[in-house]
Amino acid sequence: MSIERNLTGDRAKQIAGEYAAHLVNDGDIVGLGTGSTAAYAIKELGQIIKNGFNILGIPTSYQSRFLAIECGIPLTSLDEHPVLDISIDGSDQVDKKLNVIKGGGGAHMLEKIIAQSSKRYVIVVDEGKLADHLNSSVAVEVLPSALSFVRERLKIIGGKPVLRSAVRKDGPVITDHGNFILDVDFGVIDFPEKLAAELSCCTGVMEHGVFSFVNEVCVGTKDGKIDVLRR
Ligand code: A5P
Repeated sequence: MSIERNLTGDRAKQIAGEYAAHLVNDGDIVGLGTGSTAAYAIKELGQIIKNGFNILGIPTSYQSRFLAIECGIPLTSLDEHPVLDISIDGSDQVDKKLNVIKGGGGAHMLEKIIAQSSKRYVIVVDEGKLADHLNSSVAVEVLPSALSFVRERLKIIGGKPVLRSAVRKDGPVITDHGNFILDVDFGVIDFPEKLAAELSCCTGVMEHGVFSFVNEVCVGTKDGKIDVLRR
């Protein structure tokens, strides 16, 4: 990918993230997503707080926790606030029916819990994430001791699993929850809800990155606009 395309994509991510931050109301409990697009929303929320809003954030990962602290966002937890007003999060791919693949950052387990605890759930992406059909690999968080078992189960349901490796260390990526990640190629995913159900039924799978309940996606475009897609 050229530097120019990267910059264009980043600008589109920024537009989407910042737009979504302004959907937050004063007094809201806000889910803070993970990844580079959600980071733009978190930074903008920091500004909004400086301008006088009182909000409390619930991070979906250590990455978003540390960024939120840096941006001056007061934090709370699901124990104290089991129902969130709004959550804003990124995505790796979005299809025409707003089925979504997440987990590129390995945070999809808590991201899904926080998404499903939120009255309003907003996905923010740049337009490069849109696809007619999902075909990205699906992140599957696995209990380490169940790795071989799960790997075989995933092959039986048509996947090609690859253990996610740490870039700088000789070993697997370990999630915030102490688990491994298998990135699973299912080719073109014609029936995301069916795949989601199959993955959820697999013992040893802690969570997977197919989100088939999304109904609001804010898309930043390279010419600086926002498209809001609703199911
Ligand atoms: C984190 O686990 C992911 O679900 C991210 O939200 C997703 O990978 C999108 O990341 P970017 O906004 O960095 O593309």
